[in-house]
Amino acid sequence: MSHQPAAFPAARLRRTRQSGAIRNLVREHTLTVDDLIWPVFVRDGQGIEEPVASMPGVVRRSVDKIAEAAREAADLGISAICLFPYTDPSLKTEDCAEAWNPGNLSNRAIRAIKEAVPEIAIMTDVALDPYNINGHDGYVVDGEILNDETVEALVKMAVAQAESGADIIGPSDMMDGRIGAIRTALEASGHSNVMILSYAAKYASAFYGPFRDAVGASGALKGDKATYQMDPGNSDEALRLVGRDLDEGADMVMVKPGMPYLDICRRVKDQFGVPTYAYQVSGEYAMIMAAAQNGWIDGDKAMVESLLGFKRAGCDGILTYFAPAVARKLAGQ
Ligand code: PBG
Repeated sequence: MSHQPAAFPAARLRRTRQSGAIRNLVREHTLTVDDLIWPVFVRDGQGIEEPVASMPGVVRRSVDKIAEAAREAADLGISAICLFPYTDPSLKTEDCAEAWNPGNLSNRAIRAIKEAVPEIAIMTDVALDPYNINGHDGYVVDGEILNDETVEALVKMAVAQAESGADIIGPSDMMDGRIGAIRTALEASGHSNVMILSYAAKYASAFYGPFRDAVGASGALKGDKATYQMDPGNSDEALRLVGRDLDEGADMVMVKPGMPYLDICRRVKDQFGVPTYAYQVSGEYAMIMAAAQNGWIDGDKAMVESLLGFKRAGCDGILTYFAPAVARKLAGQ
């Protein structure tokens, strides 16, 4: 082998991959515990942690256990926790009144966490599906999802959450006009510091399946959510939705699901330059866990790689069921 000066490649990109030290030095994006929002499921009772079959490692917790979990999350450095209630079927009605009951499960959990762990930010979900007898995010009349009547209910729900101590309101319902209506009501009720993280670009996705099991909505849901959630074939529409929600008063925006929609995350971040989040949803979590449990992939590595992808795509943070596991891994535990 001769080494003629003219024979070397013009660019040896492998040079900056030659060792761990050099790779660390040139890495553009990193995942940190600051990037994590942890979605959790709340149920009734005392001292209960009940596994969700389709989400290995995820449990539904009673309010006391949620407060304990929030303590552990905060001790790991996780900044925010996001609450989803598993509502008893007997509380699901046509008018969804349990949604704005100050004493509902979600609002009780907010108060318990605020008291036990004041430093963690509490995010909520605003949509009628946990309380709706037919499993939809909005009121259903003659098979149609009503927009404006639903927005009125969502406003009451959001104000009850703010009154309970929520820091970040997360409307996930995809009705038109809800961000402006909620913002106005929050201002009027003395909650001008309560933030809105809009589920602005939320797609009608098959990846929500395990979540609907976790909150007990799969049995109730009649039909699909395609008349309000986005068509997976669209991306310009996502930008219109984000722009509209920002105009109406959203402080932060979300793309959901995550991994199949990284192009949307990138377009949103490039166009608007606002705090942008992705939701790595239940089906994404379930796929990684199922493959890992079968020994088909290295679960820990896939977890970190999947989350780093969101950072590379421009996200400021990720809602992920992996939050405690990845926080522990990042802390070297
Ligand atoms: C309901 C809601 C859903 C999720 C969050 N809020 C499900 C749906 O729209 O049917 C999904 C989260 C997940 O799959 O992890 N408003």
